[in-house]
Amino acid sequence: MKFLNSASIKNKTVLVRIDVNEPLDAHQHLIDDFRIQAILPTVKFLHKNGCKVILCSHLGRPDGSWDKTLSLKPIAERLATLLELKFTQSAKSVTSFPADHLVFFTGNIEDGQTKLALDKVSCKNVVVLENLRFYKGEDENSPFFAKRLAELADVYVNDAFAVSHRASASVSAITKYLPSYAGPLLEKEIRNLDRVLKNPAHPFVVMMGGIKMADKAKTLQNLGKQADIVLLGGGLANLILKSTGVNIGKSLVDLNEEALAKQLLQNYKDKIILPKDAVVANKKMTPASIRATPIYDVKDHEVILDIGPQTILEYARILKTAKTIVWNGPMGHFEVKPFHTGTMALARIIGAVSSGRAFGVVGGGETATAIRQAHQASYIDHLSTGGGAMLEYLAGNKLPGLVALG
Ligand code: 3PG
Repeated sequence: MKFLNSASIKNKTVLVRIDVNEPLDAHQHLIDDFRIQAILPTVKFLHKNGCKVILCSHLGRPDGSWDKTLSLKPIAERLATLLELKFTQSAKSVTSFPADHLVFFTGNIEDGQTKLALDKVSCKNVVVLENLRFYKGEDENSPFFAKRLAELADVYVNDAFAVSHRASASVSAITKYLPSYAGPLLEKEIRNLDRVLKNPAHPFVVMMGGIKMADKAKTLQNLGKQADIVLLGGGLANLILKSTGVNIGKSLVDLNEEALAKQLLQNYKDKIILPKDAVVANKKMTPASIRATPIYDVKDHEVILDIGPQTILEYARILKTAKTIVWNGPMGHFEVKPFHTGTMALARIIGAVSSGRAFGVVGGGETATAIRQAHQASYIDHLSTGGGAMLEYLAGNKLPGLVALG
């Protein structure tokens, strides 16, 4: 893989694939800008080198149709603010763009006119293209669409680790048509995740929660080889508990995933630690129904919504001894109080031991939100921008976007 910092890019036009797939509210306002913030150093580096910068990303899953609610406009506006540039939207009548402007380009990449219009942009501008998934060719990894994108620039940079597990045109096929490099954010992700995969300091503790065992089983199987202890919470723990005959009441689990849970437990029974107690409530989460209980005493009508106080203490004690920590997935229904307690308490412990005693890696959309809610983001050694991509990388899978750069 060739890296951007060793490429000769002076005064070139550089197309950078970024992943700014940020959550929006019902009015298309940004809820978070973590991934936008993460890409700023790359843009500044390219500007310092006199490059004309074209940024492109997907947002949501519009599946090849022009869905206005998934326009990249709010993202481009936030980028403009963070880069201290004025925001402007491209229009046919505009013949040139003032140098201190970020240009949100709404033209159709496939009609060939876009290239001509982009020639009017100077190296002091930043151009942001409209959502790539508005084009069918993106998800289809179409060579035609990739060629159209490639025609816009001299050099291609993949700085979108978070979407590198998708074989999309702007991530995979495009590398056939331009000199292609891994950007600094992608490089940082790989170096930090490789440290965990290849050379973790021990004790190595993996903590995983969340709901879908199918998304995480392979990652747990792979990390389990190196890890000394695997702490489980959330739906993952519930499924394993159920597979061993523990009553989890009305807690939602996907029984199709039970075989994965059993296999995991069989392979790592000496490493896996499950919650000894839980915070439960009835299905409506009525305040009067909330209680902490030993895990063997959950009633048929109850739902497990968080790990209990004894489990928090036990997991905290183990995390404090760790030299390497990987955390993905909340311990409970942390969006709703008081079921945030387990996730927040352990987020604080991970923040406290990271950047010093332990090398701490945290990733996944909800997990990153939780770590920021607990005000611990700046203490984490590596807060990954990847959700699915991080899980796949840690599972040992080959990511199409990385293969394409190889
Ligand atoms: C993500 O948020 O994990 C990436 O942007 C990939 O998005 P996708 O799952 O819609 O491909």
